Amino acid sequence: MKTLKTHGSNKIACGIDFGTSNTTVAIAHGNGDPITLVPVEEHHLTIPSTIFFPTESPTVVFGRKAINAHVAREDGRFMRSFKRVLGTSLMNEGTYISGRKTKFENIIGHFINDIKNKAELTADKEISNVVAGRPVHFVDGNDRADKEAEGQLEAIFASAGFKNIRFQYEPIAAAFAHELDMGDTERLAVVMDIGGGTSDFTIMRLSERYIQKQDRQEDILSNAGIRVGGNDFDRALSLKSFMPLLGLGSLWGSKGLGFPITPFFDLAELSKIQCMYTQKYKRDLKGLISQSNDKALTGRLLSIVEEELGHTLMSIVEEAKIHLSSCEQTTADLSFIEEDLQSHIDRTQFEESLYGSIENIRQTINECIVMAGVKADEVALVILTGGGTAIPMIQKITRCIFPHAEISDGNRLSSVGFGLACDARRYYLGVN
Ligand SMILES: Nc1ncnc2c1ncn2[C@@H]1O[C@H](COP(=O)(O)OP(=O)(O)OP(=O)(O)O)[C@@H](O)[C@H]1O
Ligand SMILES: [Mg+2]
Repeated sequence: MKTLKTHGSNKIACGIDFGTSNTTVAIAHGNGDPITLVPVEEHHLTIPSTIFFPTESPTVVFGRKAINAHVAREDGRFMRSFKRVLGTSLMNEGTYISGRKTKFENIIGHFINDIKNKAELTADKEISNVVAGRPVHFVDGNDRADKEAEGQLEAIFASAGFKNIRFQYEPIAAAFAHELDMGDTERLAVVMDIGGGTSDFTIMRLSERYIQKQDRQEDILSNAGIRVGGNDFDRALSLKSFMPLLGLGSLWGSKGLGFPITPFFDLAELSKIQCMYTQKYKRDLKGLISQSNDKALTGRLLSIVEEELGHTLMSIVEEAKIHLSSCEQTTADLSFIEEDLQSHIDRTQFEESLYGSIENIRQTINECIVMAGVKADEVALVILTGGGTAIPMIQKITRCIFPHAEISDGNRLSSVGFGLACDARRYYLGVN
């Protein structure tokens, strides 16, 4: 095991963007060296926020390796989207891993520890200063739960060994990253950060000359956010284009009622999939399916639950969604369920499934504009970040809301981490 230098550790700081889907970390040095993103999994600068706990080994694996272990059907527990648990009752309830009740703070703690270790190995120094990203709202419409979520994350960072911990809104961090090379003219900008779990917006005045300022509060006109993101788009697409192949909408019982919808909603929601794998759930589902009027379809549902392939299905749904950002149509291969089974989806179908989410996003952007006290057509620059901003329909509504703005969408998956390190450098190291 390598020993890290502690000497001069106050001359280094990092920014960590712990995302629902992907995580990045960037390092800032007190000597003015450029900020660098850390390779967090082999050469990759982003790591999927996933964990795999093997049943037979105490060695936990993360990121792509965790996904591969799960896809290879190794024995163990796979988890993703655990950021979404912060601020919810599940945080205290915990979950069973290899038969042992485990708290989510420990699960998330494993992941944050791994990120910290990788940053320290790259820097060859201990790092005790961090600016951590946070969504504008971890939990919608519940300030107390929101505060709790931040407190829980702060405690996790402290347990990982960080001594100084500050939080910054993720879209503000993306704005800082963008500001580094935008020239000296002041521009009114909106940042739209549509991630896996949340959509966050900031309206602020940006200029390269403002990088010198220690306090940016007067430049930030408004922040708004909503707990809607890529996971919700996946759920909507799954319900529209995949679940009918498993019996959603089919008939049930002698009176010809609709088959109960709960199992389909559970299977389309990442945080619920694991709950379907208990003996009781499987038994109850079998009971329901015994009265199904279309067992050819609902038998597929049962086989997915019995063989615990829910995450495999969600990965295929997500892949189809991503494909539909660049293609008008896609075909999802579902032969892991049944030979030759496929789902054909076109972009219009996907956009129909997004209707509710897009309306919520549009409304949140409008609230952000009202809070800022500006008119939408005064906005000169739109900075798009987060994987969800690649969706053509999101780009279309952006263009509609901000008709005169330049749209910039570079570094979609790393700008928040980079911007958090800009903030860390300014705050902890006094370097602009
Ligand atoms: N080309 C694409 N088209 C549509 N969606 C995409 C595309 N690329 C990635 N995504 C989606 O973007 C989401 C991940 O984005 P990102 O990495 O920005 O999220 P995150 O930062 O981890 O989440 P959050 O900020 O909400 O905590 C996933 O839902 C992924 O499926
Ligand atoms: Mg994000």
